[in-house]
Amino acid sequence: MSANRVLSGIQPTADSFHLGNYLGAIRQWVTLQESYDAFYCVVDLHAITVPQDPALLRRRSRVAAAQLFGAGLDPKRCTVFVQSHIPEHAELSWVLSCLTGFGEASRMIQFKDKSLRSGADQASVGLFTYPILQAADILLYQTDQVPVGEDQRQHLELTRDLAQRFNHRFGRTFVVPGPYIVADVAKIADLQDPSVKMSKSSSTPQGIIDVLEDPASIRKKISRAVTDMGSEIRADNEAKPGVTNLLRIYAALTGTSLEALERQYEGSGYGAFKKDLADVVVDALAPVRERTEEILADEAELDRMLADGAGRAREVATATMALVRDRVGFLPAR
Ligand code: TYM
Repeated sequence: MSANRVLSGIQPTADSFHLGNYLGAIRQWVTLQESYDAFYCVVDLHAITVPQDPALLRRRSRVAAAQLFGAGLDPKRCTVFVQSHIPEHAELSWVLSCLTGFGEASRMIQFKDKSLRSGADQASVGLFTYPILQAADILLYQTDQVPVGEDQRQHLELTRDLAQRFNHRFGRTFVVPGPYIVADVAKIADLQDPSVKMSKSSSTPQGIIDVLEDPASIRKKISRAVTDMGSEIRADNEAKPGVTNLLRIYAALTGTSLEALERQYEGSGYGAFKKDLADVVVDALAPVRERTEEILADEAELDRMLADGAGRAREVATATMALVRDRVGFLPAR
């Protein structure tokens, strides 16, 4: 069993990742590839839990993978792959779903939120069992740490419970993984409503900054971002959630502390601060966008990189699944 392994996943459900995905997850993934045995997957099986168009899904899966490479994931340092290329994810998900209580699955907040939006009758059973598939993604790779944003914490708790339950019932099989959540960037807020997270499913276009967005549009959205009463540039989640969110974004992208930024902008107004922040965001995202475009220009090479990633992922996934089949009591196929 490998020590120090990380795994995480991202859905190919939009034409671009957003700044919350980038700061809350992808930037950590890039850092962690240096010191961990890192696996990152584009979770296309999760993407079909809501109605979807096949041509669009294919396109978005490639755009998602290209953005991961564009953001700095290096195929020599980590394994990037597409979830549906490894059928063991679905297979393990079935086994784990047979260990999950119906009530336990019903308590998952994301399902409640998403099904409330579309109406519980419209929600698919796949959406309901989504967190179990996520647990399978993680456990299949004997993962130690899972770098994610705050919204995934409950799914990781379920993953840990399922790993422990399986190990208890069938003998030690899975590593019990822990969350890797970086507090200051774990919940980047919507620019128009700082009380909610930036989200591709619930934010308005004005509330969300896309990684692949053009600079003029990014500048406009930041200049129109909701700020709070008063004119002070100060981090205070309760009194100034809008400004605090902008300060967090600024701090994360420049490697500056919130205190240093407060000192830097003491006495200046929101306008000057937002203008500087727009420069920071545009400068940070421009290289990612350019590299992503270059990668997308050679689709055959991108597909080859993903096939290579799938090859490496398959080695680990098939070994874990062979063990699981044996532990559960399935007969050998030959
Ligand atoms: P997804 O595709 O919704 O989001 C990908 C990652 O981005 C993080 N994130 C945020 N972080 C900070 N602020 C925000 N506003 C924000 N919005 C999103 C998410 O926390 C996530 O880390 N269920 C997962 C995908 C998944 C997965 C996995 C993750 C499937 N299998 C296995 C880890 C391990 C999801 O929907 O992510």
